[in-house]
Amino acid sequence: MHDDIERVLLTEEQIRAGIDRLALRLTEDYRGRELIALGVLKGSCIFLSDLVRRLPIPLAMAFACTESYRDGTRPGDLEVRLFPRDEEIRSANLLLIDDILDSGRTLQRLRDELLARGAAEVKTCVFLDKPARRAVAIEPDYRCFEVEDRFVVGYGLDHAGRYRNLPYVGALRAAVLEADAASRP
Ligand code: IMP
Ligand code: MG
Repeated sequence: MHDDIERVLLTEEQIRAGIDRLALRLTEDYRGRELIALGVLKGSCIFLSDLVRRLPIPLAMAFACTESYRDGTRPGDLEVRLFPRDEEIRSANLLLIDDILDSGRTLQRLRDELLARGAAEVKTCVFLDKPARRAVAIEPDYRCFEVEDRFVVGYGLDHAGRYRNLPYVGALRAAVLEADAASRP
């Protein structure tokens, strides 16, 4: 697995320090308020579990996922599935947590849906921010690191389902990306 990585972009130490910084800010901002940390599956799972363990404040956890509509009638539109019940969402302070903010469509769609279901507040928190790729008007309220415009894996981020368990963030070798593209029908 490590042989497929061309370059390490964020080491385990850098990630730890970045999460410590972010956790301090969140702890200040949410002190005295009930919070639901809502992770977007599957990419946020590693980041979410490291982050919440550094927040010494009461919070609940919930999950959501999005899928592209398969019938092709609504290109770019995303179907949303939420695991908190509507009663939990209503009047809640939600912190929407994802691995990366890329085009921004996923978090924008989820934020709109949660607000439509009556959430009091929806803030966004991402491990990585790739601002060069933004296609819709959304900026993260919290982010750990900004990254350049290239495909990265590790620490929850995948390529074709793999590499989420790398403890660092790295750029995949071009040969791996090309071999994968060639094997697709
Ligand atoms: P968005 O809706 O375009 O902002 O994309 C969000 C999703 O695309 C993320 O949750 C990731 O699953 C995926 N994604 C975007 N960029 C990368 C990357 O560089 N590596 C791995 N996954 C990525
Ligand atoms: Mg993904």
